[in-house]
Amino acid sequence: MSHSCHRTDRVEERSHRPDSLVVVSNRQPYSHEIEGDGLSVDEPAGGLTAGLDPVMRTTDGTWIAWGDGDADRSVSDEKGRVRVPPDDPSYTLRRLWLTERDVERYYAGYSNQVLWPVCHGANWTVEHAEAYFDRYRDVNERFAEAVVDTSDEGTTVWFQDYHLALAPRRVKEERDAFCMQFWHIPWPSWDGFRRLPQRTELLDGLLANDLLGFHLPSYADRFLDCAAGALDVTVDRDAREVEYRGETTTLGAFPLGIDAERHHERALTVGEGFWESFRTEHGIGPDQQVAVGVDRLDYTKGIPERLAALERLFERYPEHRGRLTYVQKAAESRTSIPAYRRLGRRVRDEVDRINHRFATERWRPIVHVEGYLDGCELAGLYRHADCALVSPLCDGMNLVALEYVASQVDTPGVLVLSELAGAHELLGEWTVSINPHATERFAEAIDEALGMGAGKRRERMDALRRIVFENDLEGWMDDVFRAAATVRG
Ligand code: G6P
Repeated sequence: MSHSCHRTDRVEERSHRPDSLVVVSNRQPYSHEIEGDGLSVDEPAGGLTAGLDPVMRTTDGTWIAWGDGDADRSVSDEKGRVRVPPDDPSYTLRRLWLTERDVERYYAGYSNQVLWPVCHGANWTVEHAEAYFDRYRDVNERFAEAVVDTSDEGTTVWFQDYHLALAPRRVKEERDAFCMQFWHIPWPSWDGFRRLPQRTELLDGLLANDLLGFHLPSYADRFLDCAAGALDVTVDRDAREVEYRGETTTLGAFPLGIDAERHHERALTVGEGFWESFRTEHGIGPDQQVAVGVDRLDYTKGIPERLAALERLFERYPEHRGRLTYVQKAAESRTSIPAYRRLGRRVRDEVDRINHRFATERWRPIVHVEGYLDGCELAGLYRHADCALVSPLCDGMNLVALEYVASQVDTPGVLVLSELAGAHELLGEWTVSINPHATERFAEAIDEALGMGAGKRRERMDALRRIVFENDLEGWMDDVFRAAATVRG
């Protein structure tokens, strides 16, 4: 299929991009680490950081983020600034230094033990929420001070995600900058959100933005419910606008995409060599079918539910024993938080138990890869997997689903996708849909995916690839900047 027609329109689209841009996020695009007697630089890993980096290069802007690399200070000036990328310095990364207490309360505390579970409809306790929130506010103020110090009137300031809900208001108090924010996780219902004691202050912070983006229209609509429920605002539901304190915030739905071309290229170039050695290293026979799951070890990703479905599959359809290997690539995440450590232990225990139950001398049902795989190796794994199991209990979008699709460069596989992932709104029609809590049906769905005929697989994958290539990261960025230009007038 051709993807180039879409690209030609894009030169014109770039004219919407701001001349002066400040990006603000919790995670930084580059971190400097001590390696032996020297230094090494970790490159942008996530889709968004990798995608914003080229935009920053062309605007020569500033990116403000937490400097968490152990050698970050040694290469930054007195304001935490360093020019990046290291091999072709073209924009400024301004690092903010956080103390252990900041990290514990602002990052692990309020961001990840209050906002994250509230937005994902998971359990949370209010126990330390107030103490965490005080520090969350302090750190947001420090981010805002760095923005004010870096920007002029009229600069576009782009905040990323839930770590920074209060910073826009602080910036607006000092600067007439154009503020926008993208909320990368779901926005909860009013019933879920209203339980937060800090709901008014959070909304007050976010409504200082001129433009506020979510992945899906339903998240934006729920935000409107919350604003109307908690504050004295005027809401225009059709235009998705909120008028508050005499200012208007426009909401928008911009489903995030990936650099599909890059994933496609990687899958093509990684070659058979990688797969042969991966397969051999993990004892996967040449004739076996492979299912893959790639996640951060997070309780929202539905990993135990997926393992339960696989166990059920091997019970109910014994013909898959000895024939199917499930490769779980799980990356440790947020390990200072007990719930994440508990999940890690649970996943390891379950994998061991299921393997113990079914394994034979020549076959292991689950291969749990805990070591690092780079982007090319991941693309190789996706490419050779007959199906991907993406089963979050709740997820803003889920880029793994899109990456799997972009990596299907030869025999097409099947995407088994949770209807509770944002990505399902985009791709659902062409996937085998599951509810991760319905174990029996999930097992059936895996069986259906593995048995699907070549013609049907091809037809579905072609449709999925069209969607993923047409709604890629470039296109997302264009949509966001175009909306920003319209709001600016
Ligand atoms: C989610 C969030 C991101 C975050 C990522 C990894 O995708 O939306 O903002 O960076 O998880 O989590 P971490 O806590 O390691 O930054």
